[in-house]
Amino acid sequence: MDGGQPGPVEGTPAQPLVEDPAPSPSHGEPAGPVEPDLRVDPEPPGEPDDQPQSQPEPPPPAQPGPSGSSVLRADASTKAFVRPPGPRRAKFDEAEEGLPPVAEPSPAGVPRGTRAVASLPAPAAPRVFVVANQKGGVGKTTTSVNLAAALALGGLSVLVIDLDPQGNASTALGVEHSPGTPGTYEVLIGGSAIAEHVVPSPEAPGLQVLPASIDLAAAEIELVSVVARENRLLRALRTYLAGHPTDYVFIDCPPSLGLLTLNALVAANEILIPIQCEYYALEGVSQLMRTINLVTGELNQDLRLTTVVLTMFDARTRLAAQVAQEVRTHFAAETLPSVIPRSVRISEAPSYGQTVLTYHPDSAGAVSYLKAAQEIALRGAAPTTQENR
Ligand SMILES: Nc1ncnc2c1ncn2[C@@H]1O[C@H](COP(=O)(O)OP(=O)(O)OP(=O)(O)O)[C@@H](O)[C@H]1O
Ligand SMILES: [Mg+2]
Repeated sequence: MDGGQPGPVEGTPAQPLVEDPAPSPSHGEPAGPVEPDLRVDPEPPGEPDDQPQSQPEPPPPAQPGPSGSSVLRADASTKAFVRPPGPRRAKFDEAEEGLPPVAEPSPAGVPRGTRAVASLPAPAAPRVFVVANQKGGVGKTTTSVNLAAALALGGLSVLVIDLDPQGNASTALGVEHSPGTPGTYEVLIGGSAIAEHVVPSPEAPGLQVLPASIDLAAAEIELVSVVARENRLLRALRTYLAGHPTDYVFIDCPPSLGLLTLNALVAANEILIPIQCEYYALEGVSQLMRTINLVTGELNQDLRLTTVVLTMFDARTRLAAQVAQEVRTHFAAETLPSVIPRSVRISEAPSYGQTVLTYHPDSAGAVSYLKAAQEIALRGAAPTTQENR
């Protein structure tokens, strides 16, 4: 991916494009025939720091028919709309209209509105992050892929290990992960070397991915009967790091505390917990902390919780600010100063097989992840090195 914005969908001048009508409350297709509404809905302004007007909406990722724009027009003969392929705008996009930018200072060295990323300092030894939170949908994958891409764009060598059978990190980093694609499963169960199955991500030079396919779902059960079942990833990663100089490793975990996550906790030396700035944010974190304490006591004494990232921060709600404050009280030293805002661009990016850094480099979401990556890089190296383990 070259990081450029996709061009506009071409329309025939005589037949103006018609936007999709407002979704029905049930989110399904209308039950009966629908009168075609030929009005062109005004484009919502989007995020406060979105691209200027000259920046067109990118086309949907799915291939349109040979006529290209035909799917965006009302079909007068059937009196029904054909929905355009690709992602729809999320509800909260409309609510973002006219809002002031997230009250975060511009990141030092990463000026807004440019794609240039300041080069980042390399750690003294590889830093291996496990990105964990057994609560689902809190931004583990989004944080893993965007931080990894930001660090790689900063000139560092980064490996992302997709440890979730959903394969979301593989999707967001634009790498193949259809069933049968070799990756994490082969490493954990088959004993393959990581180097055999890593693939470069088109998102950034120096960014490698060990993909996960749905095959990995079986690993959770198969690992039960495997010798040294909680050390499989650690061993493979040690071998990889010995032969492949790497600055950062991010292990994207599934939303559970099973054997997959346990392998990650044993293989890593730092824990990064994304916490969504919503109600129940801290629910489950105490259980995660108990698991971490068990692991550090029995299996990996080098493991440290070093980083908490506040995600999906909605500056309009008092609740988000309260949650952020509560998290900062609990994890004063670990919580990054920067906050990841709730952003349509962030949520849209994976459906194009991209991180927000290449999808909308100037958006608030991209800038916040660049800034978070910079903060992580500047915090220095991990307390211990892989070689010492
Ligand atoms: N800052 C954000 N603004 C808006 N949407 C976001 C943001 N971060 C994540 N999302 C969206 O929220 C959803 C959940 O995010 P993500 O997949 O990263 O969470 P997760 O913790 O990895 O989920 P799971 O537990 O299923 O692995 C995704 O649809 C993602 O695109
Ligand atoms: Mg995930």
